[in-house]
Amino acid sequence: MMQQLSVVILAAGKGKRMVSDSPKVLHQIGGKPLLGHVLRTARCLDAAKRLVVYGHGGEAVKAAFASETDIVWVEQAQQLGTGHAIAQALPAIDPSDVVLVLYGDVPLIRAETLQPLVADARAGRLALLTVELINPSGYGRIVRDERGRVLRIVEHKEATPIERNLREINTGILAVSADKLRGWVSELDNDNSQGEYYLTDIIELAVRDGVPVEAFTVTEPAEVQGINDRQQLAELERFYQARQTEKLLIDGVTLLDPARVDIRGTISTGKDVVIDVNVIFEGNIRLGNRVRIGPFCLLRDAVIGDDVEIQSHCWIDSAEVGNGAHIGPFARLRPESRLAPGVHIGNFVETKKATIGPGSKVNHLTYIGDAEIGASVNIGAGTITCNYDGANKHKTVIGDGAFIGSNSSLVAPVQIGQGATVGAGSAVSGTVPDHGLCLTRAPRKDVANWERPTKPAKN
Ligand code: UD1
Ligand code: CA
Repeated sequence: MMQQLSVVILAAGKGKRMVSDSPKVLHQIGGKPLLGHVLRTARCLDAAKRLVVYGHGGEAVKAAFASETDIVWVEQAQQLGTGHAIAQALPAIDPSDVVLVLYGDVPLIRAETLQPLVADARAGRLALLTVELINPSGYGRIVRDERGRVLRIVEHKEATPIERNLREINTGILAVSADKLRGWVSELDNDNSQGEYYLTDIIELAVRDGVPVEAFTVTEPAEVQGINDRQQLAELERFYQARQTEKLLIDGVTLLDPARVDIRGTISTGKDVVIDVNVIFEGNIRLGNRVRIGPFCLLRDAVIGDDVEIQSHCWIDSAEVGNGAHIGPFARLRPESRLAPGVHIGNFVETKKATIGPGSKVNHLTYIGDAEIGASVNIGAGTITCNYDGANKHKTVIGDGAFIGSNSSLVAPVQIGQGATVGAGSAVSGTVPDHGLCLTRAPRKDVANWERPTKPAKN
């Protein structure tokens, strides 16, 4: 049987340079905590066990991932070095496993890059991930012999001037069998310039024991870039977004400017979708064929049907939009808005917990909440469903083909029958029968030659 994989994620560091009250690994890229990216990658690798070594702000970190009940949390109360951090996790790992070491603040590492390391560890080797940097300053350097075999890792602070010229650096990511790791970690000391237990010292021990050390080199430094400050956070966010929009382009989506679309979640797209600039997608998004999205829109957890046009400045949150609907500009669809095919929602219209039937139109300045609206209904400008009495929410039901005149207040609970008409300016509650006319506005009163009051003369 294949050895099982335990992934240990180091995340005990303080992250002081973030200048933040929240733990570093809870800062986000693409709308997801840094640690969330790493946990997901570990899952993609079919890890049997995922362990997180935490320290500062541990309670907040645990709380953020409370729904992932399989995570093994290991406390490292004092940060005595990466070797010490691994030592804390080892008792919770089966000696027959292989171990992959990842970092909570290195979010963009891909499973495809890690697979060969894990395979190497299963084959009895120690696998390291390295990268060549133009400026390797601060990192551990990979020291090789004249035949190119890895001998050891030297930390920047310990390195000689010649070693500091080496541009191949240690990403910190490695994989090896748990039993070998355990033996070497127990031999580590903190006899170095930082007084820390360096995990990197195990390389020399592997060489001593005749365990083959293999270095895999990544070509894209961003993939192994750690985040220590907001500058790096912003840079990696851009890198991540570029990857997301690249996928969309490959999938056949037109992006008027790939640099001005952000995806903070997952998105699936049909054919010939066109997305204008400054559009943000959050959560799970599904766009049908030929969907067009204008500039400055935010969509969150939305399902958009075929041939839908969303004009500029729309906010669509937890809503479903049927085929051929027209939305916006300046429309706000709030949670549980369900629009049937062919619905039109125009400017300054807000919907919430509302189903709107096929072909119905709500074109201007309207609030529709807690409502069930049939097919081919016309809602005039300025209509408000008064769904809230200060304590309870009530429902508005409008039958097929009804016509609601402009500036009407539908005071729920209210039921407007099929084909019924509400005159403009009415305040309606109760029931309007099918095909009836309801008119509640005050009758017009005319006074001829009306004299307006005048101000008393000043003296
Ligand atoms: C480490 C490596 C170095 C490598 C670099 C890559 C060692 C000794 N050095 O250096 O070779 O080039 O990473 O970024 O491993 N951590 C803990 N507990 C600790 C110490 C660290 O959980 O006691 C975590 C930190 O949260 C961080 C990671 O381990 O995510 C790396 O720690 P850091 O102190 O940044 O290591 P470096 O000195 O940068
Ligand atoms: Ca570091």
